[in-house]
Amino acid sequence: MTHTQKPLDFLWFIPTSGDGTYIGSDTLSRPADPGYFREIATAADRLGYSGVLIPTGVACEESFVLAANLAAHTEKLKFLVAIRPGTASPAYYARLAATLDRVSNGRLLLNIVVGGNPQELAGDGIFLPHDERYAHADEFFRVFNELIETGSADLDGQYIKAIGARLGFPPVQTPRPPLYFGGSSDAAIQFSAGFVDKYLTWGEPPEQVAEKIATVRRAAAAKGRDVGFGIRLHFIVRETDEEAWEAADRLISRLSDETIAAAQESFARTSDSVGQTRMIALHNGRRDKLEVSPNLWAGIGLVRSGAGTALVGSPKTVAARLREYQALGIDTVVASGYPHLEEAYRVSELLFPEIGLGGPRNQIRSSFGDRPLFGGGGHGGNLRVVSGS
Ligand SMILES: Cc1cc2nc3c(=O)[nH]c(=O)nc-3n(C[C@H](O)[C@H](O)[C@H](O)COP(=O)(O)O)c2cc1C
Repeated sequence: MTHTQKPLDFLWFIPTSGDGTYIGSDTLSRPADPGYFREIATAADRLGYSGVLIPTGVACEESFVLAANLAAHTEKLKFLVAIRPGTASPAYYARLAATLDRVSNGRLLLNIVVGGNPQELAGDGIFLPHDERYAHADEFFRVFNELIETGSADLDGQYIKAIGARLGFPPVQTPRPPLYFGGSSDAAIQFSAGFVDKYLTWGEPPEQVAEKIATVRRAAAAKGRDVGFGIRLHFIVRETDEEAWEAADRLISRLSDETIAAAQESFARTSDSVGQTRMIALHNGRRDKLEVSPNLWAGIGLVRSGAGTALVGSPKTVAARLREYQALGIDTVVASGYPHLEEAYRVSELLFPEIGLGGPRNQIRSSFGDRPLFGGGGHGGNLRVVSGS
């Protein structure tokens, strides 16, 4: 079976810094609320998503604590939990990760976030310049991996010192929970080649994604390793292409030019991330040319840092675009959409049947056969009138 035939591994997103109907506007915005995150996680679990990404940052709820809570409310859902080297020691993170993998019965995935905002990192006690952060991450994950895989580790490194580190309890998954990672700089790609199981790219146009995949593959092969690939994208899927484009326009309909200018100025001032620079270059702060490749819309990046593009269209259109990425080697999608609860339903109900993924309809029988005409007070669906009744 080739990668184009195999269904995508499809994850959703927990918006731990808040959510809303209109980006860049307070109208119908939703605060970061643990109860709401549980609603999204339980919906994603039922709707056929394999997991959820939980980000990290000063404006986010803490990723490990939140994942532990959500694990208790879900059955199969995996948790792609952001881990930022340097905010705690590798030994401490190995304990956190092993315990979270144990309490969730093997449902932990880790997303390595080295960070691209020096001011924010300074607040966490991390003062290294861009490329040295990756040298630090290299030592961090040498210790983390050895410890979580074998129960002991030692390193007297330039950045990390772990003398006689021990881990009492192993994770459920062997040899350890998988490591995911995103970063577009040369240093990031060299790091990913040495350590990561799955390289995640932002939702760039297919030609740029193809280039990146080739570069990461070459770098990994030079180290005798093989890396899988995923993409981080928003989705605006509606029954028709026209409706989907209307929904995209509506999403930024309350966004003022001043808010866009302020967001772009803030990214330029605070970020040293190559990945962020590549996302901004797709639109350059202009709202008049947002379809940056067929059905790939950069409107979200006008005000949101990180994932700034959405696939927009009918289920068939979006499925065709996804197949283009799959043909390049992408096997995993980390998806989101505003607001995240309603859009989790839309993507599952509209898109999943087109891409061979099962939603809740495939998990539970709805009846023994013809559904009875009355009782329950539901909306009735396509009830057939049973003769004689
Ligand atoms: C899929 C994905 C998820 C990310 N999640 C986070 C996050 O939760 N918090 C964060 O601060 N940065 C996040 N990042 C940003 C990267 O971790 C990294 O800091 C940034 O890309 C800078 O690296 P670069 O200069 O090598 O591109 C994410 C990146 C990708 C591709």
